[in-house]
Amino acid sequence: MTASRSILIIGASRGLGLGLASEFTAQGWAVTATVRRAAQQAPLQELGVRVEELEMTAPASLEQLSNRLDGQRFDVIFVNAGVAGPDHHSNAQATAEEMGHLFLTNAVAPLRVAERLLPNLAAEHGLIVFMSSILGSIETGAGMGMPLYGASKAALNHLVQSFVRGQDNPKLGVLLMHPGWVRTDMGGANAPLDIDSSCKGMVEQVSAAVGQTGLRYLDYQGNPLPW
Ligand SMILES: NC(=O)c1ccc[n+]([C@@H]2O[C@H](COP(=O)([O-])OP(=O)(O)OC[C@H]3O[C@@H](n4cnc5c(N)ncnc54)[C@H](OP(=O)(O)O)[C@@H]3O)[C@@H](O)[C@H]2O)c1
Repeated sequence: MTASRSILIIGASRGLGLGLASEFTAQGWAVTATVRRAAQQAPLQELGVRVEELEMTAPASLEQLSNRLDGQRFDVIFVNAGVAGPDHHSNAQATAEEMGHLFLTNAVAPLRVAERLLPNLAAEHGLIVFMSSILGSIETGAGMGMPLYGASKAALNHLVQSFVRGQDNPKLGVLLMHPGWVRTDMGGANAPLDIDSSCKGMVEQVSAAVGQTGLRYLDYQGNPLPW
C-alpha cells in the first residue's frame, strides 16, 4: 500500500480552491488548505480538510503560517488565491491602489508564499503549482479581455520563470495552471465550465505531474499553453 499524497492549497474558502480541496480529498489525498478568516473554515472542515489561516499579501501572516507548518512536508503546494482586479478593467482609470492590490495579490504574493514555504515541499519529488490563466499568455491572452488582470498573470508567469531559474534543486517540479473559464464568483455565470469539471481535470494534471521536473504552463486538460 502506498501512503496517501499530501497537498497544501492556498486560498480555498470558495470557488476553485474549495473545489480543489473537495476533489483532492475525494481522491484520497491528505489536504491542508488556507482561508483568510476563521469564519470561512466550515465547508473545508466538513470535507475533513485541515484548515490554516493565511492572508497572502501580509508578510506577518505568512511568517505565522510558516512557523505553524515547521517540519511538515507536502508533496504539492498549490497557490490558488487570486483576484480579478477593478471592475472597470481600464488602464486609463486604474489607481495606484488598485494596481498595487492586483499585482501584489496575483504576482508578488504567490512567489513569496512559494519561497517561504519551499522547506515544506518534499525535496525529492515536490511540485509547486501556481494558478495562472490563459489571459496571462502574451501570445494568446492579449485581446481576450481583462487586460489588467491578464498583465498581472503574465507578471506571475514571469516571476515563476525567474524563481525556477534561481533554484538549485534539479528535482523541483513547477506548473503554471489555467483552470479553463469557470463559473465562480470571479468567472461569472456565463462561463462554460463548472467547478467540478475544472477541478477534476486539474487534479488529474497535478497527480500526473508529481515527480516530473521542470516548469510547464498547462491548462486543466493538460494542453501546453504558449507563453
Ligand atoms: N474562474 C475562472 O474562470 C478563472 C480562470 C482563470 C484563472 N482563474 C484563477 O483561479 C484562481 C481562483 O479563482 P476563482 O475563480 O476560484 O475565484 P474566487 O471565487 O473569487 O476565489 C478567490 C479565492 O482567492 C482567495 N484570495 C483572494 N485574495 C487573497 C489573499 N490576499 N490571501 C488569501 N486568499 C485570497 C479568496 O479568499 P476570500 O474568500 O477570503 O476572498 C478565494 O478563496 C485565481 O487565481 C484566478 O485568477 C480563475
